[in-house]
Amino acid sequence: MYSVLPNAVILAKEYVAKVLKPGGKAIDATTGNGHDTLFMAGLVGDTGRVYAFDIQQVALDKTLARLQEAGADKQVELIRAGHELMAQYVTGPVDAVMFNLGYLPGGDHRIITRPKTTLDAVRAGLDLLKAGGLMTLVVYWGHPGGEEEAQAVDEFASVLPQEEFAVARLSFLNRRQAPPYVIIIEKSR
Ligand SMILES: C[S@@+](CC[C@H](N)C(=O)[O-])C[C@H]1O[C@@H](n2cnc3c(N)ncnc32)[C@H](O)[C@@H]1O
Repeated sequence: MYSVLPNAVILAKEYVAKVLKPGGKAIDATTGNGHDTLFMAGLVGDTGRVYAFDIQQVALDKTLARLQEAGADKQVELIRAGHELMAQYVTGPVDAVMFNLGYLPGGDHRIITRPKTTLDAVRAGLDLLKAGGLMTLVVYWGHPGGEEEAQAVDEFASVLPQEEFAVARLSFLNRRQAPPYVIIIEKSR
């Protein structure tokens, strides 16, 4: 319906595409059904690397099938672990880190990202980011637990030191039904 301001997920991808190039390195912190993983696998190509985390095997299985179908599985490492542990699996620096919070669409809605582990993962991801790299977080606040997480993420992001990070939040002011918004964090060069 809208081509310039469609939704938070597409806006996040547009920003990531500005920094993630062939041969690059990226983290999908919330793999889910694998849409962002496939998107980043396409950007880095077969000389790059995407590390994709999820705590649910069903998410990783769906993502593997999606990647294989597109012939983009070689450059992706699927990791069944909490994103808060990403520093144990990934050696930086990385060009981009994507988060898509909340529950797995089509899956168990009780398994959601949580404020503490999300913030631990955001901190770890910011450490791994290279200078000039980008983190995006698509934040959902309409489900039980969502508002609490959104508040925690907003509070954390809004006090990041401006000499080190530029932080923006794009939200849809006139959209009904708790529209997700996107937070974009750029690490200074
Ligand atoms: C909104 S979905 C992600 C959607 C995904 N980006 C896509 O393109 O389909 C959120 C995912 O985060 C996962 N998740 C929840 N807690 C997690 C954690 N601590 N570490 C990693 N993934 C987690 C859930 O299992 C779920 O699959």
